[in-house]
Amino acid sequence: MDESVGTYLASHTTQPGEVEQRLIDTTQAMTSGMMQIGHPQAQFMTMLTALLQPKLVVEIGTFTGYSTLVIAKALAAEASLIACDVSAEWTSVGRRYWEEAGVADRIDLRIGPASETLAAFDPGTLVDLAFVDADKTGYVGYFEQLVPMLSPKGVILVDNVLWSGRVASSEDRQEDTVALRAFNAHVLADERVQVAMLPIGDGLSMIKLAEDSR
Ligand SMILES: C[S@@+](CC[C@H](N)C(=O)[O-])C[C@H]1O[C@@H](n2cnc3c(N)ncnc32)[C@H](O)[C@@H]1O
Repeated sequence: MDESVGTYLASHTTQPGEVEQRLIDTTQAMTSGMMQIGHPQAQFMTMLTALLQPKLVVEIGTFTGYSTLVIAKALAAEASLIACDVSAEWTSVGRRYWEEAGVADRIDLRIGPASETLAAFDPGTLVDLAFVDADKTGYVGYFEQLVPMLSPKGVILVDNVLWSGRVASSEDRQEDTVALRAFNAHVLADERVQVAMLPIGDGLSMIKLAEDSR
């Protein structure tokens, strides 16, 4: 997106709350902040969560906890969010802000490879909303683990599906680009699901069960 249009879009979207802004600032001071979703995407995810009213959310890729926070804020008090990441260090930053925002009791942080965390879920677990934002080469595996657990009106959001536009150039053979291109093709070819690819952030796919596969 043209930079000036991106700035306009960001300034005409509901702004981050005070705790969220401090978490954004802290993350940028510690890292380039590049791994964190942008606030227009965060606002979309907050609104979608409020509309869907999920009972169980699964996040794959928590980092310093911003996406976790913006989803958790929109959850009903009895709902829960299982946050999966391999890094105890990055996620410890998030824990502080989840406490400050008063949503820590809704977040169940599980440290370890997300494929193992998902495999350990109780049989019959129903996921109402998932957000996938971790290792790109793992995306097809996460999708295959999540689809059988998806509730009838459940949604899987998958981040970085446009990868700065690199997926559209077949000349880019970098491992993550190839993995994301393969993931996008895999989802499109799967008749169990429908997908809408949104040009928000770095590209966000919204996936639900196809009407006839429920
Ligand atoms: C792009 S960051 C997530 C950003 C976060 N959603 C946010 O908006 O702030 C990707 C995260 O995935 C985690 N990750 C990488 N490989 C993983 C794996 N196999 N299982 C679980 N988490 C993993 C990394 O530790 C990193 O924190």
